[in-house]
Amino acid sequence: MNQAVSLSSAIATDNAPSALSNYLAAQQEKSFLRFITCGSVDDGKSTLIGRLLYDTKLIFEDQLSALEHDSKRHGTVGEDIDFALLLDGLQAEREQGITIDVAYRFFATDKRKFIVADTPGHEQYTRNMATGASNCDLAVILVDARHGIVTQTRRHSFINSLIGVRHVVLAVNKIDLVDYDQAAFDKIVEDYKQFASGFDFDSITAIPLSARFGDNVVERGPNLSWYEGPSLLGHLESIEITKDEQARPFRFPVQWVNRPNLDFRGFSGTLTSGRVRVGDEIVVAKSGKSSRIKEIVTFDGTIEDAVAGEAVTLTLEDEIDISRGDILTQPDHRPHISNQIAAHLIWMDDAALLAGRSYILKIGAQEVTASVTAIKHKVDVNSFAHEATTKLGLNEIGFCNLSTSQPIVFDKYEENRETGSFILIDRFSNQTVAAGLVWFGLNRADNVHWQAMDIDKAVRSEQKHQKPKVLWFTGLSGSGKSTIANLVEKKLHAVGKHTYVLDGDNIRHGLNKDLGFSDEDRVENIRRIGEVAKLMTDAGLIVLVSFISPFRAERDMVRSMLDDGEFAEIFVDTPLETCEARDPKGLYQKARQGEIANFTGISSPYEAPEAPDVHIKTGDHSAEDAALKIIRQVLGDDGIDPDLADFTI
Ligand code: ADX
Repeated sequence: MNQAVSLSSAIATDNAPSALSNYLAAQQEKSFLRFITCGSVDDGKSTLIGRLLYDTKLIFEDQLSALEHDSKRHGTVGEDIDFALLLDGLQAEREQGITIDVAYRFFATDKRKFIVADTPGHEQYTRNMATGASNCDLAVILVDARHGIVTQTRRHSFINSLIGVRHVVLAVNKIDLVDYDQAAFDKIVEDYKQFASGFDFDSITAIPLSARFGDNVVERGPNLSWYEGPSLLGHLESIEITKDEQARPFRFPVQWVNRPNLDFRGFSGTLTSGRVRVGDEIVVAKSGKSSRIKEIVTFDGTIEDAVAGEAVTLTLEDEIDISRGDILTQPDHRPHISNQIAAHLIWMDDAALLAGRSYILKIGAQEVTASVTAIKHKVDVNSFAHEATTKLGLNEIGFCNLSTSQPIVFDKYEENRETGSFILIDRFSNQTVAAGLVWFGLNRADNVHWQAMDIDKAVRSEQKHQKPKVLWFTGLSGSGKSTIANLVEKKLHAVGKHTYVLDGDNIRHGLNKDLGFSDEDRVENIRRIGEVAKLMTDAGLIVLVSFISPFRAERDMVRSMLDDGEFAEIFVDTPLETCEARDPKGLYQKARQGEIANFTGISSPYEAPEAPDVHIKTGDHSAEDAALKIIRQVLGDDGIDPDLADFTI
């Protein structure tokens, strides 16, 4: 909305002819069709769009802005801003700043208004296509009459079907190049219908046309007399799209709590589906608390009822606890609540998805931490085959299980495109890395509850006269982590502290013996050790963890799993050359000879901590000094004095 307002206000028009007001009022009454065009340059996509725009004597986008500005000044079309329609879809994703190459064009005929989403056609643009299709009602899939159904046609159809586009036009272009031959057309249609029968399309309309010469784009033309159906534009103008958002259950994600003064408390947002009337009972999905609608407030005053797509502020009869991110629903059709879901992910980042890594999941106004617990398969977008995989690369589509830090409220994507779609955001770069479509909730966690125990962390640590801590040693292989951790433990043990060392090499002989050194295995390695360290702090222990732990994301994740002040990151900073010169286990030599793959520092990355709690430059300190420094810095405040006389054993 903000963008729409600034777009229109940026354009100043002084004179608005009065006929324009009438024209605009007429425009307002017309229905909107959003469609996506899929095909490559060679299929004549640009020519087709150009011809549609030209032949319909469209209103260009920039003119629209001016018209819209006028319309607001003269008040004939109310607050409804056409441009806003360009800006929703994967709105959250756009707010996130991902650069998705989708060009939107607007045009109108006497019968209807249109928005065309035009996206690049190549395979590497899957994410753009998915974004473009996300708010479309119909897809125009172009094929070249000479070549018929090709791999791309299959991919475009699959993505549209996945994203929930329910109507397809198979535009068989360049029909002039096959001499307007009906048999060629029929064959293509038959092929298409056969493979598309597995998709969930409500309608497939095949139209022969020549974008170049204009046959059947806007007018039927004389060359295709054997064809009895509508022209492309005729079809786009007349196809019935049942927008049943209003018929769906009421969903109102609360964008913000509007409390200008003590007498007014309203909940602002847009109805994503359904309708609501004053007096209706509503339920806060997550808490189950209910109340009734007292008022529906809009910019122009109060109204009696509101429908899907309208932005309103709701006030309630009762004071119940509601905050941003909550979803108000109707009592008899509630959304799902779970902390585990199965979803399709369209991966949009250069860095691959690794199962186990934690991301921010944003669904509507809800934001939680989430990780992929399993990649069930990835889909070959060309053959639709399901393939086993351990990671998802840029533009790949995978079916995954995800687990969230707190339960989320959602619908299945097929039931509600708004409350059933989400994005994943990288915790560091703040970039959108995936778009997700919820397929179903997993209820396996439904019947697993936290068992409350009377003896808890506080009681256990009190008995041990210590504050539980995790001392996380990170650094290259051979940097001295284990040596220093060993010294620290000895010193703590000597003053009666209860400790445990978790060491990479040791744990890899037992709990983690199934893991190797690929990126995804290292992520899982650290995830598990993070969980073990957490359990040990719960037992009241001071835990020393000595793992290369090469990725910032996982170290940070462990920090976030623990209570504030419980996690100390200790960077054992020894230059690669020194580690290699020491080579205590002879591994660097092997790695250099190519006998060990993915060796940290050589053929696998190490992401050094940016702001470690303790920075040990081993060149400047002896191991003994390093151990004392760590105890002072991390445990000094807890009353552990490293200078005690009998400190070393
Ligand atoms: S981590 O990267 O997943 O955190 P971890 O600390 O568990 O690694 O294990 C590292 C130890 O495994 C090293 O100290 C070394 O002895 C051994 N190792 C064997 N292969 C590799 C490898 N490819 N890269 C790094 N360390 C390896």
